[in-house]
Amino acid sequence: MSSPALAVNLSDAEMRLLQTLVYQECGMYFDARRSHFLRDRVQRRLRECRIETFYNYYQLLLSTEGKQELHNLLENLTVNETSFFRNKAQLELFHKEILDEVIRKKQERGDYQIRIWSAGCSTGQEPYTIAMLLADALAYHQLRHPILGETTWPKPLVPSPWNVEIPASDISYSVLRAGQEGIYNEHQMSSVDYSYRLRYFDKVGERYAVKKAIKELVLFDFHNLKTEFLPRSNDVIFCRNVMMYFDEAEQRRLIEKFYRCLSPGGYLLVGHAESLLGLTGKFAMIFRNSGTAYRRIEVSE
Ligand SMILES: C[S@@+](CC[C@H](N)C(=O)[O-])C[C@H]1O[C@@H](n2cnc3c(N)ncnc32)[C@H](O)[C@@H]1O
Repeated sequence: MSSPALAVNLSDAEMRLLQTLVYQECGMYFDARRSHFLRDRVQRRLRECRIETFYNYYQLLLSTEGKQELHNLLENLTVNETSFFRNKAQLELFHKEILDEVIRKKQERGDYQIRIWSAGCSTGQEPYTIAMLLADALAYHQLRHPILGETTWPKPLVPSPWNVEIPASDISYSVLRAGQEGIYNEHQMSSVDYSYRLRYFDKVGERYAVKKAIKELVLFDFHNLKTEFLPRSNDVIFCRNVMMYFDEAEQRRLIEKFYRCLSPGGYLLVGHAESLLGLTGKFAMIFRNSGTAYRRIEVSE
């Protein structure tokens, strides 16, 4: 087959078929406002696969052999924009109130395991931001409540007996690989101040590499939020700027899943342009200095 010189035209009916397929596979909903983006990306895939008709391409997507191409298409449809320390007001609430409460309550119970999931982590800036803030919060907590007999030197990033896990998941393998690599250029580092750069990054030529001790806290893995197989027992879930690409029905289903994936009293943090308002009665909103979070309500409350 030769490469089509012109973009293949897609009828409205063909666009609807694609819209439905993408929605069923990953929850992303392309309404009229975003359909040009879907059209553009599908035409690009048709060119790259050297397929000349929509019918042949759609058949491929539905076939067993076409699983890889379906994945390529979904990768091409994701928006991966992200940055370190994104939404400072919300991170302030997370650092000063939520982490403080989680650490204090866990210590009272003698439970030293903390698990914070970054769902839709893109290239890693979000989970690494969480890791840096959590490392700082635990060090500060240890200063105020030292555990007697603790003399390990050099001091570990996560003080004993604490154990930290930050699962970081996405539907795109290419962003997961970039996150795993953990190397960022000056532009990507623009929101990281010098005290964080000095403590948590190594300079490698012109770029910055996340230090091994921080990298070890973050576990990158593939998860499609459309499925039921998602990381459980989280104290906090970050799912920021992901739900905005889903329709209301899918948002409701996802919030239900997050409820089940949180430990009792756990917190859900969504993006600045997203809200749980009108979608669920199972979370209580917390609002401080422009920062928002949602706490899981327990049945007995
Ligand atoms: C705009 S980025 C947000 C990154 C980060 N959370 C932030 O706020 O900076 C959205 C990410 O969600 C991922 N995503 C979209 N649909 C998904 C799905 N069904 N399952 C898992 N991740 C998904 C995309 O691949 C993309 O990396």
